[in-house]
Amino acid sequence: MRRVVVVLLIILAPFSADAAGFETWHEHHDKATPIWVLPKATAPDNMRWSNAEMPGDVESKRFSQPEVCRGCHGVIYDQWKGSMMANAWTDPVFIAVYKKYIANAGTEMEKAEVAMCSRCHTPSGYLQNNMGRYFQGELSEMDKRGVSCDICHSVEASNGTGNGSFIINPGDASKGDFGTKFGPRNDSVSPIHASKHSELHTRGDFCGMCHDVGHAHNLMTVENTYTEWRRSPYNTGNPKTSTHCQDCHMRQNPTHPATGATPLPDSPGFAALEDLGAKKRSHVWQHYFIGGNFVVTTLLGNQQTARMAQDRLEHALTIEVLDQGKTMKKGRTERLRIKVINSGAGHYLPTGLTFVREMWIHLQVKTADQKTVFESGYLDAKGDIEPNAVVYKTVLGEGGEERKPTFFLPAAFQVVYDKRIPPKGYSLEEFHIAVPADAKGPLTVHADVNYRSAPQSLINELLGKDAPALPVFTMGKTETTLAVE
Ligand code: HEC
Ligand code: HEC
Ligand code: HEC
Ligand code: HEC
Ligand code: HEC
Repeated sequence: MRRVVVVLLIILAPFSADAAGFETWHEHHDKATPIWVLPKATAPDNMRWSNAEMPGDVESKRFSQPEVCRGCHGVIYDQWKGSMMANAWTDPVFIAVYKKYIANAGTEMEKAEVAMCSRCHTPSGYLQNNMGRYFQGELSEMDKRGVSCDICHSVEASNGTGNGSFIINPGDASKGDFGTKFGPRNDSVSPIHASKHSELHTRGDFCGMCHDVGHAHNLMTVENTYTEWRRSPYNTGNPKTSTHCQDCHMRQNPTHPATGATPLPDSPGFAALEDLGAKKRSHVWQHYFIGGNFVVTTLLGNQQTARMAQDRLEHALTIEVLDQGKTMKKGRTERLRIKVINSGAGHYLPTGLTFVREMWIHLQVKTADQKTVFESGYLDAKGDIEPNAVVYKTVLGEGGEERKPTFFLPAAFQVVYDKRIPPKGYSLEEFHIAVPADAKGPLTVHADVNYRSAPQSLINELLGKDAPALPVFTMGKTETTLAVE
């Protein structure tokens, strides 16, 4: 695989020690913004060496609310509206976590990390330097719309990848100037806004602006989806032959999950109302932006998005029992190997918020008379995964030798556990089954790979008595029988 050279640029200056109230929190932003810059030869032509906008640089009234775009782009609007990005600020799980972090951030370093959250979860609220972003609920209507149309399509360039490295150039909607919309086409004509081709928008590097997250202060990797993809076989090094984020996530439609294991179909049609000059396209980029989240999308009433998320999760991996045809000896401990292949995701499985997401193997071995001989990966009485299970995830730890595991990101310093499956790669797990002397054969081996958005105990802690029982989703399963003698 090609070696990827990533230059790390850190814009860091000393912190002032006197920050007390929210008013002074914003001072932390411009002091800690790690951004990764690609070598020029492999970067899109509108990735450039310059500073990203900082709080106060762009007024949010310059952006249009998504309902303005809906007038002519109704189909795209309906797709986007159910997505997690449309709800990046109103997502109740995000709100619960964010409030907790605000309440508990004590040191300057912890506050610096919390000050960054709004950069991706309400980009316009962040750029406006709206202090309401620390209180929740006091933002303008525009700022509550999360990652909306006019955020993505006012991105003129990026200054690298990671940590919200967008260079944004909206019109001024408050004066009826809708500015230039940057997009994939070079022949697009709209009656209300100028259009301009942006190479960045056609490449995974666009998503990489927000889908690589580094800790604001200590640079620890928090989310790494873009870098995982960049180092994967899906990125051939040639943008024309690569399978970009968009090829999977903006080709999924209600009938096709569009993963590495399934076709990446075209959705022919019009990207805007035909009467207004839209051209017939062999593929209109879809805006469902489906990931693994079927819980919050269900909670928010977006059934279609939730169903499509399940369709996606079901086509991400395959699971196989090796040692097929093996005879299990009574009274002995026998080895059983299970292979989990990341056949569908363009990044690790799981990806994104991997210190919260859970993916694990549930293995059951039963005798012919239904006695359980072995079980791994069941849920305990509290709904948590039993401690000996094979779990694919990361765990973050505090600094110091103790490496104490934590969900409190502001104080996290290092990754203390990391077990995930690389794109087009696999993980081989060994289980040791004690076969009882009186076992009645054949043995039935049943193996599932399960997915859950978060540990049950974390959700209980965050949402209190309102916490829903988090559903467990089976991403893949297999069954086989083994003779006993
Ligand atoms: C009055 C109708 C109208 C409104 C309102 C409107 N657009 Fe458009 N837009 C169009 C038409 C027509 C096209 C051309 C489509 C084509 O090329 O087939 C277009 C094209 C685009 C493109 C493609 C640009 C390219 O070069 O690839 C983007 C992106 C876009 N619009 C974004 C937006 C956003 C964001 C909003 C809301 C702020 C918006 N539009 C509001 C009519 C409109
Ligand atoms: C550089 C951009 C960026 C920054 C900064 C950022 N996030 Fe996120 N956040 C994301 C992305 C991208 C995802 C989606 C990943 C996924 O779904 O696995 C996400 C997902 C989440 C989720 C999961 C929501 C759910 O419903 O499952 C929570 C919670 C969250 N972020 C909280 C925070 C907090 C708190 C901060 C500040 C400490 C923060 N984020 C800072 C980009 C960012
Ligand atoms: C997360 C960023 C993001 C958001 C939010 C977003 N878009 Fe897009 N949009 C893109 C990207 C990226 C492409 C081009 C994909 C490619 O070429 O690979 C695109 C393509 C388009 C196109 C051209 C489609 C075509 O095939 O000609 C239009 C029109 C458009 N978007 C309008 C909108 C509207 C309207 C909204 C809000 C309802 C919206 N977008 C929200 C990122 C976004
Ligand atoms: C301006 C920052 C930003 C950009 C640019 C961006 N994202 Fe996101 N994305 C987010 C945030 C923040 C979330 C998490 C929202 C939440 O869960 O609360 C997210 C969530 C998602 C999810 C849902 C994850 C889940 O758990 O279901 C998908 C899929 C996704 N993004 C794909 C993309 C793709 C593909 C692109 C590029 C075309 C892109 N994003 C560009 C900020 C961004
Ligand atoms: C080859 C197809 C493919 C490509 C390319 C791809 N993805 Fe995915 N993505 C998937 C599949 C399948 C899933 C569902 C499994 C999962 O949730 O981990 C997924 C899930 C996700 C999630 C949700 C993770 C979670 O469970 O919280 C995010 C966010 C995401 N992708 C973003 C991206 C971004 C950003 C890129 C480009 C840097 C990208 N994807 C490239 C197939 C792809």
